[in-house]
Amino acid sequence: MIKDKLIIALDVNTLKEEERLLDILSPHVQVFKVGMELFYSCGAKAIDLVKKYDKDVFLDLKFHDIPNTVYAASKAAVKFGVYMFNVHASGGLEMMKKAVEGAEEESEKLGVARPKILGVTVLTSMDKEALKKTGINKSAQDQVLNLAGLAKEAGLDGVVASPEEIIAIRKSAGKDFLIVTPGVRPEGSEADDQKRVATPKEAFQRGADYIVMGRPITKAKDPVKMLEAI
Ligand code: C5P
Repeated sequence: MIKDKLIIALDVNTLKEEERLLDILSPHVQVFKVGMELFYSCGAKAIDLVKKYDKDVFLDLKFHDIPNTVYAASKAAVKFGVYMFNVHASGGLEMMKKAVEGAEEESEKLGVARPKILGVTVLTSMDKEALKKTGINKSAQDQVLNLAGLAKEAGLDGVVASPEEIIAIRKSAGKDFLIVTPGVRPEGSEADDQKRVATPKEAFQRGADYIVMGRPITKAKDPVKMLEAI
């Protein structure tokens, strides 16, 4: 079951390193996350490599631009053949609607399933003080719920949310809204720079559909043993 619920973050900057991780982990995991570090280092080859292993890609580039540009970028994400990608919910309702529209049009044209589109609500690095400096006078939790509601209204499939936000989002957005949760750490492992962590078990109990994990597995001496423990 964990095979389909755990997304591995491929946070490396060479195809060689990516290949090493895929060699080790692809027999055990279905979805791999290609984020800014890998994509901006290696480009579309990083996506193609995951697909060569018959695995699915979560393209984590957090689009945030005017609606027309995000519409075009979403079409490009479909052309890459990714399984999932994301946009910043703070880009607004119109921008998110255009992401869905672009992805739908391109998927129809190519005769493929539309990728799942997630909204990034409030970055987990932002707290109340940091939000206030950007002009938002709300708690992070309230702003997360506000943006999750907007993402749902725009037709997005779900959101990326920290372990602390899962329960409130599940309650307000319902059971069919995907919740993808980073900041997950197996019991006894380092938190690294993640501030609010939960174990995989806790994240799923709270209602996460997928968990995203990078360093606890990719930097482990024996990544497969770590996976087995999870
Ligand atoms: O190594 P670690 O398990 O901390 O990796 C978590 C991954 O999830 C990283 O790729 C990070 O960029 C991403 N992420 C996160 N927190 C967010 C959004 C994305 O940790 N709020």
